[in-house]
Formats: sequence, C-alpha cells, structure tokens
Amino acid sequence: MLELKNIHKAFGDCVANDDVSLVVHRATIHAIVGENGAGKSTAMKIVYGFYNPDGGEILLNGKPVNIRNPHDAIALGIGMVHQHFMLVDTMTVAENIILGAETGSPINLDLDQANRNIKSLSDELKLNINPQALIEDLSVGQQQRVELLKALYRNADLLILDEPTAVLSPQEVEEFFNILRRMKEQGKTIVIITHKLDEVLAISDEVTVMRDGRTVGNVRTAETSAKELARMIVGRDVLLRVEKTDAKPAATVLQVDGLAVEGRHGMAVDGVSFSVAAGEIVGIAGIEGNGQTELIEALAGLVDPKSGRVKFEGHDVTGLGARKLKELGIAHIPEDRHKRGLLLNSSLAENSILGVHYRPPVASTAGFLDSAAVDTRVRSIIEDFDVRPAMPELTAKSLSGGNQQKLIIGREFELDPKLLLVSQPTRGVDIGAIEFIHRSLIDLRDKGRAILLVSAELEEVTALADRLLIIREGKIVGEVDPKTASVEEIGLMMTGG
Ligand SMILES: Nc1ncnc2c1ncn2[C@@H]1O[C@H](COP(=O)(O)OP(=O)(O)O)[C@@H](O)[C@H]1O
Ligand SMILES: [Mg+2]
Repeated sequence: MLELKNIHKAFGDCVANDDVSLVVHRATIHAIVGENGAGKSTAMKIVYGFYNPDGGEILLNGKPVNIRNPHDAIALGIGMVHQHFMLVDTMTVAENIILGAETGSPINLDLDQANRNIKSLSDELKLNINPQALIEDLSVGQQQRVELLKALYRNADLLILDEPTAVLSPQEVEEFFNILRRMKEQGKTIVIITHKLDEVLAISDEVTVMRDGRTVGNVRTAETSAKELARMIVGRDVLLRVEKTDAKPAATVLQVDGLAVEGRHGMAVDGVSFSVAAGEIVGIAGIEGNGQTELIEALAGLVDPKSGRVKFEGHDVTGLGARKLKELGIAHIPEDRHKRGLLLNSSLAENSILGVHYRPPVASTAGFLDSAAVDTRVRSIIEDFDVRPAMPELTAKSLSGGNQQKLIIGREFELDPKLLLVSQPTRGVDIGAIEFIHRSLIDLRDKGRAILLVSAELEEVTALADRLLIIREGKIVGEVDPKTASVEEIGLMMTGG
C-alpha cells in the first residue's frame, strides 16, 4: 500500500531522515520502532504532507505520489493521529470532526447529518463516542478515539498513529488495540509508532526499526522477539530487566503523617501516612488520578497541604515552598515535563540551572548569573546524562522527549539530593534511555539517598521499588513486597476489586 524509497530530510544541520525505506502492506498493522530522535515522526509526517522531503520517493499503491501538504494526503486517503491531540476543548466531538474540512465539501454542511454519520461510524467500530459530547468532558482515551474518528470521517484508508498509547492506561491500551484489530478486519492499513516492545509484539504484523535517521531492519512480528528488536533499536544488547541488590535502608529521611491535599474535585490525598528511608526506593502504584500527582506536588512544595505533617530529616517542613525544600535537599522530577519540568522556549543551559539560578555556584550572592559556571553545569549534565544533541544553546523544545527527560533528571541529580521525588521517570522515553534512567535511580539509592517513585507502569514500579505502596482514591490501601507480590494482587488493590 505504501512504500518509502530513500527518503531524506534535514532540518538545518540536523539530518532527521538520512535514508528511510520501508514497505507497508495493505490491511496490516505495521509498527515503527526506534529510539527518541531516530526520525520516526519525521518520516511519517512526510507521508502526511506535514514536511516535504529533500529527496526520495513515496509510492502509494505502487504509484509515485507527490504529497505537498496534509490536504493532498487526506485526498489520497491518508490520515494521521499526532502525539499531541489537536482538538478544541470547548467544542463538541462532531464540531471538532468537521472542523477544518474545506468549505463546500460535503462534510462541512450539516451538523445533524454529521452527528448521525459519526454515531454510526462510532458504533461500527464500537468506539462508544457520543458526537454531541464536549471534548473537555472526555477522558484522554476517548479524545484519542475522536482523533481516530476524525481521520476515518475523512475516508482514510491508511492511518498513521504516532505513539498513541503513551497517554493511555493499561486497560485503555487493550481496548484501543481491539479497535485497531477491528479496523484492520475492515481493510484499513495502520502504521503505529510506539516505544513499547510488548505492544509491538501484541499488535503488529510487521515491524520496521529505525536508528539515527535510517531504517535498519524490517521483520515479521511473528519471527522476532523483544530481545532482538531491542538490539536492533539501540545497536547493542540491552538489559530489559532492572538488576539491583537488596536495599539497605538507613535513617528515615521523609516522614508523612495524615497528609491531606485538596484536588479539583474534593480531597485528592486523603490522610496518607508513610516514610522513606535513606538507601531505599519506595514506590507508589495506582491507577492515574488517584492522588499521586497531588501527593508529589505537596511534598515538592508546589501546593499547600490541607492538613497533616511532613517531616524531612526529623524537621517539620509542612507547607514550606518549593525553593526552601530544594535548598534543604529535596529534588523533584515531575510527571509533566512540559508543564512543570522545563521552560520549553529557553535554552538547555537556562533549563539546567532552574531552581538554583539565584544562588552560587551559578549566580553570585548578589544574584548575577555567572555564565562560565552555567556553562560548566550544563556541559556536565549533558555529558553525564548523555543529552543529545550536546548543544547548550538549543531550546528545550527542540529536543526529543527522552532527551528532555534526561536533561531534567540530570539537573535534579546535579543537586545531589537527600530525597528525590520522581514521577513517571520514563514516560515516552525509549528503551536505551529507560535502561540508563533505571540504572541512575538505583545508583542514587545505592549512594544512600531516599527515593519516592510514582509510576503508572506497574512493571517499572515493581522492578525498581524496594517497598511498594498502593494508592486508591487518595488513600494508601496497602503495602506489598514488590519481589513477591503478584500483578493480580496489586491490580486488585489498585482497583478495589
Ligand atoms: N521541526 C524540526 N526542526 C528541527 N529539528 C527537528 C524537527 N523535527 C524533528 N527534528 C529533529 O529530527 C530528529 C528526528 O526527530 P523525530 O522524527 O521527531 O524522531 P522520533 O519521532 O523518532 O523521536 C531529532 O533529532 C529532532 O530533534
Ligand atoms: Mg516521535
């Protein structure tokens, strides 16, 4: 159905696609994998007409095509769902779907008709989407299905999905994959970009592996394994499992007693008590939205708790702000790196000093930045944490997600914290970087630091944590030994089943 031949695309000095060639067969699910920055999104955005290639050829159904912009792509039956949704919150599903359709085209005419058509499309694929619902009232998973509907509504035969599962819970992923399978049965062709090897193995028929702007492999899913894919992706053998010794917990560093934090709808954290000792990783498992975000933000001093006590190294620090807590030795790797972790339009150098920008060694006691000290700091973070490209003057937004994450982790590690609060450390990060981030967290633990880890990835949190707390509806509902507890047992506690 689709063939790319020797596609080349550079952005200034950065060669995003060096030589990309691949073949996607009709009515299959074709996975594209590769590390962050490998050029996957660029290649697919070229197919969708978002970028024009510098060289190479695209064939659709065996015929060369010239896709100048997304209009051309849509006219050829190509749809794309981007990593960041492009929906208008305050409008309905149907309004969003017909939005941007060319005036005069039949889909822009009649909202009632559109509602009916969308309803029947949704029913056909069991998407369970009400065309008249407001986007802001939908869950992330539902919004994604709206994006799918939008592409299908424009008669897409070939659907490109860029990391569609990054924002979904495990249950939503399962549901989503069933939808993709139904679409395949209807004869649709699906290209899915993903980081997760278990997902590739579960959903795809064929896999293309990209590395450094090139396609380096093409295999049938049935004939490969996670290990082989990982090796192709990274170019070397990768540890897919975390290796660590038993923790040697020492003195209590963090003591939380009856902490309550107000959320948008009532009490998000509802009387939580636990402690974290030096030299251990305490994990918090739970379905997202059960108070994890608010708990970590309260401990990091970003929001005030409603009641309860927080002690750090034996001193009451309840209600202290983020800056004070950071000065005491509490570092924070936030779950949302765009909202909380980085200034996207600022340089890597500027981002590398956030939180310490007002004090020595990067600023004088009078508060003036010392550019040499800033440069030293950013270069050491870039080197120690392998941030690519190694260019301090680049803006944070020009880095891939995995490299943004490494920059944040490097910045927080540079504080040599006594306590690290870390949420979703590897969300949207590729496997080479995941291995590195996991290793860094274990090394920090082994240096005798205390770590509180929140992750929506059950596998990650059970692999890293020495003790695992389960949170549900703002309460700690249990503690298990991650070495012996089963996924079923933890899952039941998470869901209250
Ligand atoms: N619009 C752009 N301008 C400049 N550089 C870009 C742009 N889009 C992507 N890049 C760079 O091209 C490379 C490949 O990026 P991308 O295709 O997004 O990778 P992937 O999707 O595999 O993570 C990266 O180094 C990225 O920083
Ligand atoms: Mg991408």
